[in-house]
Amino acid sequence: MPEFRVGIIGAGRMAGQPGEREFAAFPGTHAAAIAEGRSFEIAAVHDTDPDQARRFASRWGGQIYPDAPAMLAGARLDVAVIATPDDTHAGLTATGLSSSCCPAVLIVEKPPCTRRAELGGLRALAEARPATIVVVNLSRRFDRGHLDLSRDVAAGRFGRLVEATCEYSGGWVHSGPHVVDTLRLLTGGELRVDRAAVGAFGRPGDPCLDVDLTSLPSGAAVTVRGADERRRPVFDIALRFPAATVRVTEFGQRIVVDPAGPSVSRTGDAILPTQALYGACSRYLLDGDRTALCAARLEAVAPSMALLFDAQEQAGTVDVAGAPVAAGVGASVGGVAS
Ligand SMILES: NC(=O)c1ccc[n+]([C@@H]2O[C@H](COP(=O)([O-])OP(=O)(O)OC[C@H]3O[C@@H](n4cnc5c(N)ncnc54)[C@H](O)[C@@H]3O)[C@@H](O)[C@H]2O)c1
Repeated sequence: MPEFRVGIIGAGRMAGQPGEREFAAFPGTHAAAIAEGRSFEIAAVHDTDPDQARRFASRWGGQIYPDAPAMLAGARLDVAVIATPDDTHAGLTATGLSSSCCPAVLIVEKPPCTRRAELGGLRALAEARPATIVVVNLSRRFDRGHLDLSRDVAAGRFGRLVEATCEYSGGWVHSGPHVVDTLRLLTGGELRVDRAAVGAFGRPGDPCLDVDLTSLPSGAAVTVRGADERRRPVFDIALRFPAATVRVTEFGQRIVVDPAGPSVSRTGDAILPTQALYGACSRYLLDGDRTALCAARLEAVAPSMALLFDAQEQAGTVDVAGAPVAAGVGASVGGVAS
């Protein structure tokens, strides 16, 4: 019998209806990961599109609620998941944290917010609500390959970082959180933005930025370049050390260390990051072990978001209030899931 109740807000692709546009790198949907384990059940679902909610509930179960506050108040949830479009995350996270029935775990898909001012507001709300852990689903933080690599780098196994490069697609606000947060994870510390400029097409209203950074622990140059996802969806990172070159390709599914030492080199993991996320939720809810969840809590990923906003400001794609400006507005069609 499942012990814990999950409520889904936003019943689209990431929640459990990937449909035909699912591509190989999809990190696994919430519903599939919940169905895979035995500890959780989908108890409730809300989507502003009633047909989406009905389709989702008929496939995965869950009582349909007309809005998020009603769901939080009525469904006795242990976990709530916000899997709506990017620009709704901050408002819905604030709704969750303001509910008297806020669950023990509130999972928000990346990005947790799209403006700097929202980040400050969410951090304050989360701090005032210590009984709830706000977890941002930056999926590499739940991927064993990335976590092992991060530990190897931090332990100095390959020596001091010489340089790093990253190529990504899908827009700076949409995909940048993965870029910045993965680079922070893998380069062993904080980064500084030296230069940022508008680059390739990202998504409508969300261009890719080309960003030059410095890794603060090593002083190494970190070069980030955007690619047009309509031509080639990509998320690749290369890290050069004196003793090895590490390539993270295929949206993080393949990690190759060259030359490989006896205890390194890994290519993917049988456990999808979303499954690992629910494993971490279950360890917390059953045993009070917060370690894995806290690695991706809002407070831990806030520096990644601050860096993302630093780059936007340097590139001139937002005004002083953090609102997008015309120079940053792209045109044409949307991108694939990331
Ligand atoms: N962590 C990852 O690696 C990863 C991967 C894919 C997507 N995502 C994120 O997941 C989120 C959802 O992406 P998707 O591809 O599933 O989008 P989607 O468009 O397929 O689904 C979003 C759903 O939310 C509903 N919705 C919109 N506004 C709402 C609101 N205010 N309240 C309730 N429901 C609302 C829509 O009707 C739709 O059904 C995005 O923010 C995306 O960045 C993260």
